[in-house]
Amino acid sequence: MALGSEGRDGFTSRFGIVCAAAGSAIGLGNIWRFPYVVGESGGGAFLLIYLAFVLMLGIPVMLSEFVIGRKAKRNAYGAFRKIAPGTWWPLVGVIGIVAAFVILAFYSTIAGWTLHYVYLSVANSFKGLGALEVTSVFEAFQTSGGLPLMWQMIFILLTAVIVLSGVKKGIEKYSKILMPFLVLLLISLSVRAITLPGSMGGLHFLFNPDFSKINAAVILGALGQAFFSLSIGMGALITYASYFPDRTNLSATSFQVSIADVLIAILAGVAIFPAMFALGMQPEEGGPGLIFMVLPNVFQAMPGGYLVAVAFFVLLAIAALTSSISIMEVVVAFLSEELNIKRKSATLITVIASAFVGMFCTLSWSTFEGVGIGDRNIFDLLDFTASNVLLPLGGLLIVVFVGWYMKQQAVRDELTNMGVLKLVVFMIGWYTKDERTEEDRARFRAIRIRIYAVFMFIVRFIAPIAIAIIFLNAIGLIRI
Ligand code: PFF
Repeated sequence: MALGSEGRDGFTSRFGIVCAAAGSAIGLGNIWRFPYVVGESGGGAFLLIYLAFVLMLGIPVMLSEFVIGRKAKRNAYGAFRKIAPGTWWPLVGVIGIVAAFVILAFYSTIAGWTLHYVYLSVANSFKGLGALEVTSVFEAFQTSGGLPLMWQMIFILLTAVIVLSGVKKGIEKYSKILMPFLVLLLISLSVRAITLPGSMGGLHFLFNPDFSKINAAVILGALGQAFFSLSIGMGALITYASYFPDRTNLSATSFQVSIADVLIAILAGVAIFPAMFALGMQPEEGGPGLIFMVLPNVFQAMPGGYLVAVAFFVLLAIAALTSSISIMEVVVAFLSEELNIKRKSATLITVIASAFVGMFCTLSWSTFEGVGIGDRNIFDLLDFTASNVLLPLGGLLIVVFVGWYMKQQAVRDELTNMGVLKLVVFMIGWYTKDERTEEDRARFRAIRIRIYAVFMFIVRFIAPIAIAIIFLNAIGLIRI
């Protein structure tokens, strides 16, 4: 057992920490959700706004979650209860746990589709099919009811098995080795896609901003996509950071994870849009089935396409797993630490509850077709509520908590690892025998404090105000 205190399980290696946090962030959000949301939201201008949100809002929220989690060493709910006892702040944890349930429900639908596509590619089912037939294969599967439901349940069970095997052995082991392979595959898919005849329009669509496509709903969508993709706003990273050792550099980790996350999303975009244009599809056409309708065509046009297809869907399923374990862990850690339920029973409860809600999502295109609000079915409604409402709301409260409620010294200590640094300095007797000059030390402190000041300014003012404006604007209360 590593440095996690109070007998809790913990992460061992530095690489393991970044990988596990990256494993949570990188998943279906980048490869499945990003392309179809960009497609529906008009391309390049959406991408720019999304990037700005990741930088200005996403990284600070992620860092805030790290600060809360490592400080409290508790689950998403318990962390607030520990730092702010007797207040209503633990409600933020409750919002997170609700969001985790909702996300697990619809995430497992898409992950189930991915598993089915592993099966289809192993069986070489796309061989010789044209673009229209590939689309029909997907639609027949999506609307078939039982089959997607079966795959969804398999996926939820797989997630539970990993969650049950414990934090260190489970998460660290699985997320370490595999993601670089997924990146390599995405690069090769992108190269193939942009060398297809007629593909250039796709790059143009993705990288050439057309601001006439932007409205309040699109802006909220970009915020939701940024939060969903970074795994922030619901305490998944509070929970993960509660297992971080004291020496982890929180700000560096948040930057590395966010940048990796964004790059993979863009790579997915570069693989999808050129291929769509080459196939003569319209970017807004795909919906949640987009990658499943487009990518089999790209695989077919590649040398070794059979193997690439199998490897791609296997790795995508694994990327989905490393994300879904972080979602399930939010609920399981809460049930076991706060309600004193054994981890095994906590996992079982979570599996049953999420399978129940998840069923409605998966059957949105069959049994429950036509049930919904406006043009959104059950799946869309849950996705919208979690990504565009609960996560930004959670994120808003998280930055306000760190910016205005927490003791500033505590935030500073977490952010600069100063608490530990002082202890180390004290222990090896440097403090008195320091050979560095005063000037060196001042510079050392100044760098740390500058990062701290920028962070504090964002979490106190910029992030809360920006998220609030985006919300109010989207529901029409204000107009910008
Ligand atoms: N970030 C994950 C993805 O992009 O697939 C999804 C996710 C995981 C969202 C964990 C929220 C979360 F707390």
